[in-house]
Amino acid sequence: MNQTSRDGFTSSFGVLVATLGSAVGLGNIWKFPSLTGANGGAGFLLVYLLATLLVGLPVMIVETMLGRAARANAVSAFDRVAPRRQWWWKSIGWMGFAAALLILAFYSEVAGWVYAYVFKAMAGQIATTDRQVAGAVFAELVANPLSSLLWQWVVLAVTGSIIMFGVARGIEAVTRRLMPLLFILLLVLCARSLTLPGASAGLSFLFSPDLAKITPAVVLTALGLAFFKLSIGMGCMLTYGSYFRDNQNIPATATRVMFADLSVSLLAGMAIFPAVFAFGFEPAAGPSLVFMTIPAVFTAMPGGTLFMTLFFILTAIASVGAMLSLLEVPVAILSERFGLGRKRASLTTIAAVAALGVPAALSSSLTSDLKVLAMNPFDLFDFLSSNVLLPLGGIMVCLFVGWVYGLPEMARQLSNDGALRNQRLVSVVFLLVRFVAPLSIAAVLLHGLKLF
Ligand code: PHE
Repeated sequence: MNQTSRDGFTSSFGVLVATLGSAVGLGNIWKFPSLTGANGGAGFLLVYLLATLLVGLPVMIVETMLGRAARANAVSAFDRVAPRRQWWWKSIGWMGFAAALLILAFYSEVAGWVYAYVFKAMAGQIATTDRQVAGAVFAELVANPLSSLLWQWVVLAVTGSIIMFGVARGIEAVTRRLMPLLFILLLVLCARSLTLPGASAGLSFLFSPDLAKITPAVVLTALGLAFFKLSIGMGCMLTYGSYFRDNQNIPATATRVMFADLSVSLLAGMAIFPAVFAFGFEPAAGPSLVFMTIPAVFTAMPGGTLFMTLFFILTAIASVGAMLSLLEVPVAILSERFGLGRKRASLTTIAAVAALGVPAALSSSLTSDLKVLAMNPFDLFDFLSSNVLLPLGGIMVCLFVGWVYGLPEMARQLSNDGALRNQRLVSVVFLLVRFVAPLSIAAVLLHGLKLF
């Protein structure tokens, strides 16, 4: 592999936008609200915040660091940074490969729903505050095997054709301009949602925790969400880190991305939950929650159809940034390790996702009874990736950095060879990844999976 021919981000701002583009996605707008709703609200949010600060951020920092130090894909990176190139460290990369495909299989389906909703919004088919009507529209979409598959393929065709061209200028330029618009639209949506009669019940659902609702399974889900949100534990940040510039301040970039990402999720939550209670929706509705609530809020304001359409377009764009980073993990592995050329690596990855995506897309129709661990394929892929593979990858990254890579090398990397004065910060991150993060992830994982 030729170092100089590697693709990479060209500016500090580009790095920030791309990393933020990976973090912000359906996770904020779809997953965060549905999980918060299904797991009892504020208690879940509290655990999620703790998991993000104490585990997510440190893991994000060291994972990105490993990528930049190695300048290679998620598997080969460990050939370069692990002494004696032990195979078990490389398994972090292979697990990431598997996790990326599993996530893409269901993520592309949800993105497909978003694309479909752009057209439904335009046609005025979802302009309703009636939960029966809203529920029926969503149910009809997911229960139709053909349209589920077609929308997923549209999503794969769009993202696949972008990823083929490498670290894409086009999408970076598009995301950079349109993400702020999504943010503004969410603000407007919050303002409307919060002023609906009966909105305060939504706020207290979101912000006054009931500690009794925090079970081990809830904690595991919150931890899984923290990993999913920050795109960590599966080699994605490592791969992006490998495109970082040498003088990029990694801890500062990670911290900014984390806060920005968190604020998008909170805005989404504040747009959705007041409306859920105001219109009598079910907070625990699961994956359908956003698709019913968001249209209702827009319907309740002037210019609803236009803004609703815009909202789904922006969400579709946000999903593209995240999917590109997911695709980049297998694509980089395939092209660098197997010498597959960018195009063939991209096509192979897309084909694999399309195949895995079939059972996921049909989970509300033909494969709904195909249950493993009492979950349909869609839920199973989500569970296996977010709640098992990502935390497992996170533990291994922590063990590697905390016990093998070591503080001196980490301090050198994170200070950009002494150019940044951040020793104290680095020591704190080191303690977190050496002890706190791996122990707490292990405890949560074992307990949440009912293994002890
Ligand atoms: N962080 C993305 C989101 O919230 C999803 C993602 C997970 C992207 C893992 C890359 C890796 O939508």
